[in-house]
Amino acid sequence: MSNEKPGNSNIVWHNATVTRSRREQQNGHKSVILWFTGLSGAGKSSLAHAVEEQLHQLGSRTCVLDGDNVRHGLSGDLGFSDNDRKENIRRIGEVAKLFLEAGVIALTAFISPFRTERAMVRKLVPHGEFIEIYCCADIAICEQRDVKGLYRRARAGEIKNFTGISSPYEEPVNPEINVDTGTQSIEECVDEVISLLHARGILVRA
Ligand code: ADX
Repeated sequence: MSNEKPGNSNIVWHNATVTRSRREQQNGHKSVILWFTGLSGAGKSSLAHAVEEQLHQLGSRTCVLDGDNVRHGLSGDLGFSDNDRKENIRRIGEVAKLFLEAGVIALTAFISPFRTERAMVRKLVPHGEFIEIYCCADIAICEQRDVKGLYRRARAGEIKNFTGISSPYEEPVNPEINVDTGTQSIEECVDEVISLLHARGILVRA
């Protein structure tokens, strides 16, 4: 292990000749981060994958980063304390930024409960390239669905720091998209996202 501090000045940025704009031109669409946020069980992953399916059919290059999957690998060392969640979101933000540079539409599905961390990721990338999608299913509906049985265990005190029960979720103040994944159909939610991408000129070829 080196003793050097992170961010030291001996590391020099290397510029690529295959640039982001060349990749975007080849892909026929712009790259962007679609950041799905909301409670566990709100349907973030289902919606992100349904949007990806639609984008794929339109010929777009996409990648979904999903909370449960990322926590098996990249964030396998993190738990659910406030600090671990912050670090989780910092890592995902940096990874999503790399995808942006690669010309890919990155879809991220994480609870990402804190406004500060979501704002931090937004600031990592140029204006307009972070699209926050609030999956605002009511907690009563998430708890009723309880697909993974985690709400029941959290209520029983078996899981600590559970979002919405013993750990906060800070609602987005001004998200680009607000979908009620508790009551709206998944098709309706997908349409809202795809329409915004068209309106913003992101899906140029399509
Ligand atoms: S985040 O807060 O850091 O953004 P993330 O989206 O990666 O969370 O992980 C959330 C998933 O982990 C949930 O969908 C759920 O399946 C699982 N999980 C396990 N423990 C907790 C907990 N204490 N709070 C919330 N989700 C939990």
